[in-house]
Amino acid sequence: MRSDEKPFMSQPREDCKLILALDVPTREEAFAMLEHCGNELRWVKIGLQLFVKYGPSFVNEVAERGYEVFLDLKLHDIPNTVASAIRSLEGLPIGMLTIHSMGGQEMMSRAAEAAAAINPDLTLLGVTVLTSMNRTNLATIGFDDDPEAMVLRLARLASESGLGGLVCSPLELPMVRKELGPDIAIITPGVRPEGASADDQKRTLTPAGARAKGASFIVVGRPILKADDPSQAIRRIMAELR
Ligand code: C5P
Repeated sequence: MRSDEKPFMSQPREDCKLILALDVPTREEAFAMLEHCGNELRWVKIGLQLFVKYGPSFVNEVAERGYEVFLDLKLHDIPNTVASAIRSLEGLPIGMLTIHSMGGQEMMSRAAEAAAAINPDLTLLGVTVLTSMNRTNLATIGFDDDPEAMVLRLARLASESGLGGLVCSPLELPMVRKELGPDIAIITPGVRPEGASADDQKRTLTPAGARAKGASFIVVGRPILKADDPSQAIRRIMAELR
């Protein structure tokens, strides 16, 4: 094998885990949903919708129920402001947090330092190019590059800036895993079990497909949130991941 070949590129992740995207409008609905999720689910993603409404106390309440929390805030500001915002999360029981890689190398490095200072076990994740942006609307804001090239450049920069992981669409997952190797955490949304509605996701992978392409975690929302029996939907996804 040549030294530049990357043998892990299509190796499945034995430890690929499920994260539930808790995309509901109120805390009452959030806790009612968690009641129906059974006891296999470990990770819950809290996004801006609930965090803006209820703040850190909601994160504490979810963690008190025994879940690991992925706080999806997608922070993006000048380096000092992002680092200060992360320091403000000190003491909050979160295992993952997102920032925008487009904030640049200094912002990401300062963010990584702040994250390590408040909680050495916190994995800081870089969002590369939002999947809502295509080549045309990237060009309208001055980015003439191929979106995939941008994703790769930002992924590399995030890794070099000390981030522990990346959020990637199913389409980007294989190339990012190939480029950055087996150690970085890659979190993939856009996952749909066989036969489930794609909703508004354009490019999807099944749980087994995401695992096979090297996802460390998959994020699934509506296929669980809208299921008649969320705990059964979770069990099926977890069975596929195993
Ligand atoms: O309901 P669904 O499974 O599509 O939810 C996917 C979750 O992942 C949502 O919280 C969505 O905001 C998030 N996400 C995404 N695509 C990205 C980044 C995040 O779907 N590129």
